[in-house]
Amino acid sequence: MKDIKELKEYASVNNIPIMQDDGIDFLTTFIVKKQIKNVLEIGTAIGYSAIMMARCNNDVHITTIEKDEARYMEALKNIKKFDLEDRITLIFNDALNVKLDGEYDLIFIDAAKGKNQDFFEHFENNLSMNGYIITDNMHFHGYVEMPEEEITSKNILGIVRKIKDYTYFLENHMLYKTTIYDIGDGVAVTERRG
Ligand SMILES: C[S@@+](CC[C@H](N)C(=O)[O-])C[C@H]1O[C@@H](n2cnc3c(N)ncnc32)[C@H](O)[C@@H]1O
Repeated sequence: MKDIKELKEYASVNNIPIMQDDGIDFLTTFIVKKQIKNVLEIGTAIGYSAIMMARCNNDVHITTIEKDEARYMEALKNIKKFDLEDRITLIFNDALNVKLDGEYDLIFIDAAKGKNQDFFEHFENNLSMNGYIITDNMHFHGYVEMPEEEITSKNILGIVRKIKDYTYFLENHMLYKTTIYDIGDGVAVTERRG
């Protein structure tokens, strides 16, 4: 686990947002419990969550997309260091410009928080019949639950409103049902109805 600790330290020192410990525990436990084999991740950062997911089982494959070049390069290095090049496919692009043919039994959305619905709609056709979509940061560091008058940053308020719209979209979707768990920064688990 020493190398994983180093990844987390690198993220912390360089101000790179990665999943919180209880969020990653939830995600990896979910992958094992639901016997997930193919994951699509939107938002690689330096590869921490992709590596943690790939380490759940030797037959787990991850496709992960990152648009920031420096983070993509760091993720490439880390995936190599963990000897996971054959099970983690890293794509350098804006996820909304990426078209994929494959089917995934888990789509994990952890990128620009104001664009969750765009990512969801862009990739929902890649979800396998019994698949799940997991979205992180549904609480956005507690801002989503705060009275809006107390949020002084226009930028943060804009993201908070987008997350609220996304929550409404998920909770009222005719085709999917969603549970939001108070784990980490708030994790939404979505699956098809019926
Ligand atoms: C919260 S970090 C991902 C953390 C990572 N999942 C982890 O826990 O190790 C979000 C990442 O998404 C990337 N991102 C934001 N918008 C994106 C987009 N449209 N396409 C691809 N990557 C994007 C950011 O550059 C950032 O590195």
